[in-house]
Parts: sequence; C-alpha cells; structure tokens
Amino acid sequence: MSDPYFQKLFARRIGGPDYGKGTEIYKFEKIKRAKRKARADHPERPLVDFGIGENDEMAPRVVREEMANEIGRPENRGYADNGIPEFKEAAAAYMQREFGVRLDPKTEVNHCIGSKTALAMLPATLIDPGDVTLMTVPGYPVAGTHTKYYGGEVYNLPLRAENDFLPDLDSVPAEVLGRTKLLVLNYPNSPTGKVATPEFFARVVEFARRHELVVVQDAAHVMLTYEGEPLSFLRVPGAKDVGVEVHSLSKGWNMIGWRMGFVCGQERLVGAFADVKDNCDSGQFIAVQKSAAVALDDPDVPRRIREKYRRRLTKLVTTLSRCGFECRMPGGTYFLYTRAPKGVRGGPSFATAEEASQYLIAEHSICTVPWDDAGAYLRFSVTYEAHDEAAEDELMEETEERLNGIGLVF
Ligand SMILES: Cc1ncc(COP(=O)(O)O)c(C=O)c1O
Repeated sequence: MSDPYFQKLFARRIGGPDYGKGTEIYKFEKIKRAKRKARADHPERPLVDFGIGENDEMAPRVVREEMANEIGRPENRGYADNGIPEFKEAAAAYMQREFGVRLDPKTEVNHCIGSKTALAMLPATLIDPGDVTLMTVPGYPVAGTHTKYYGGEVYNLPLRAENDFLPDLDSVPAEVLGRTKLLVLNYPNSPTGKVATPEFFARVVEFARRHELVVVQDAAHVMLTYEGEPLSFLRVPGAKDVGVEVHSLSKGWNMIGWRMGFVCGQERLVGAFADVKDNCDSGQFIAVQKSAAVALDDPDVPRRIREKYRRRLTKLVTTLSRCGFECRMPGGTYFLYTRAPKGVRGGPSFATAEEASQYLIAEHSICTVPWDDAGAYLRFSVTYEAHDEAAEDELMEETEERLNGIGLVF
C-alpha cells in the first residue's frame, strides 16, 4: 500500500513520517496474540488467565439501579462540563469518611472521565518544553507519555525490592531536579502491590517543597488495600499544599467501563486541571455521575470487593509459593508481582521476564504479564473469572499442577 499524501505530516510525537510503519508490538498486544495462539494450538488445555487487569464483575446493583432511574430523566441530558455538585459533594464526603481528608467540594474536587484522562491532562497544566516529570517504573505510563507530547522529558525512578518498591528520591541528579516540575506517584502501586506509608508521603511533601515541584499521586487502587487501612496522600500534613490525588471508581467499585474518577487536593492545581479538562471534554454523562455518587456514598461496596480480592490473592500466594515462586501477600491492588523464573530444568533459560511469560503461555497456556523495567518480574492478576470459591480453588489446583510439572528454575 502506498503512503497517503499526508504521511509526511504526522507529528513527531507519534513517529512523524514513520508513523504506522513500526514492527514493534506493544506488550499487551503480544499477550493477546499469544492467548489466541495458545487457544488455537491447544483447544484441549483451558487457558489459565492471570493476565487480565480488569475487574471480573459488573458494577454493584445499587449503582446499576440508580443508572436505570437516572437515564430516563430529561434534566440529565446535557453537557456536564466540569461536573455536577452532587458528585463533588459525594467525593468530598468519601474523602472525609475513608481518609479523614477535608476538602471543599466546590474548589478542591473535580470529576474526570476515568483517572486515565486526568493523568493525561495534568501534564498540560505544568509542562513546557524541556521540563521534567519524575515517573516511577514499572508503572502506569500515561502522564509520562503526555509530558513528552508537550516537549517535556521523563526521568524514571526504578522501584526495586531492595528499596521496598519505593523510589529513591535522593538519586535524582541536581541538574534534573532543577528542571523538574512534576513527580508522579502511584500507591497502592501497580504492578508491585506496594503500599505507601505516612512516613514516605511525609518525605515526599518535604522533597516537593525543597525542590519546588508538584506531586500527583495516583490512587486508582486505593480501596484495594490489604496492609493497614487505605491511605490518602492528602492525609499527610502539608500534602494539600504541594499536590493533588487522582481517584478512580474503576477498580474499587467494579466500575471500569463507567469512566468516572476525580482529581482532588490543592485548589489552584485542581482549578488548572479543570481549565484544561474544559478544553478537552464536556464532562461525563450526568446519569453516570449520579450513579457514581451513589457508589461513593456506600462504604460496603468497596469493602466487599476488597475482601474478594484479598481472598483470591491469599490463595494465589499459597499456590505460587508451593511452586517455587518467591512471593508475599501484596499490600494492595489485585496484582501479585513476583520474580520471573530464570528457566526450566533441562530446558530453555529466560533472559527476561518477557521470555518467561511467552514460554508459560505458549507451552502451558498460563497467561501472565511480564515487567522488565527494574528486574525481571511477572504480574499475576486475580481478576480471573470464577463464579464461586470452589471454582477459585479448582483454578488454584490446576495452576499448581501445571506449574509444578514444568520444573521451573529461579
Ligand atoms: C495505576 C493505574 N492508574 C490509573 C489507571 C486508569 O484507571 P481508570 O482510567 O479506569 O480510572 C489504571 C488502570 O489500569 C491503573 O492501573
């Protein structure tokens, strides 16, 4: 196929004139293809799927019922712009109830169409060409991608076991710090499962003040906290002066496809976010916002979801430990992050987690997600489909039998 006349017009940020010609396959697409191939090559062997990063259930009944009521009301039909007061008030009440954080719903809270969009827009509020965003790796890359879209640079902070999966803030060179405007954190952390402590967040506040930078803390997984109580960055003294926290209804309320979240914290930063957002979208459907407010008002919903994933993770830790994996119960998220095997006794060796993951899916129909950013690790998600506890137990037995039959070397 010959190039369209506009091939030379594509912006450099997406590849310039080479856009669409690369052969490199994105990690999650590779996994999808490997899954399709494993199913086709081995129809007799059910796929054991620990690769999915989405909740396995629909939104709770109370939320769906509210949506069913609200969808037919004419007053919900229009542009929602920066959001309705009912949702902002519900978000502020939730922050007070769950974390003891007091917020003015009018000025310190703004909804977003899922937290991904907020993380994509926040760099627009601060980043000019040459400015730096500090991002932790492995991690959710969206704020970094948009930093680069604006001509900024990303400086990666690796999350390593020896540092308890916290970034070493003191390792950033002075030259980089001089140009840094944004530090993006994510706790509970995806994929490492690490939770932050108030002491760590206090160090972050001090670091932000000392180097005059803004903190964005991504709390998408906060209601899936197993170690201690869920912790908001904004709970830490001074945090509300240096940053914002981004929340999501996706994980903790089984509302992935509903696309609701909110940004909260420092008033001027929330306002800047709202200004950028106002130029990008016209707000989430009001019926969805009202349903999300009902979800936030009900403390039982996230607790039930948390207990289910806690139970599944506990079983997975036991199962994988019996198969030689070095693992512990994560502090949060629905992911278990564990060192990848180095090879198979009398068989292939794996130079990377990606190679280990490809081997497990191709040869044993076990799907995982590899991470090679800071050591070779596999991510097992417990969002697999299993209708009751007996089905979960069966899946664990099947997993143990398959993994123990391989002879993995660590
Ligand atoms: C760490 C993290 N942040 C943010 C998101 C985005 O979530 P949503 O846009 O559904 O709110 C995800 C989704 O996978 C995530 O894992």
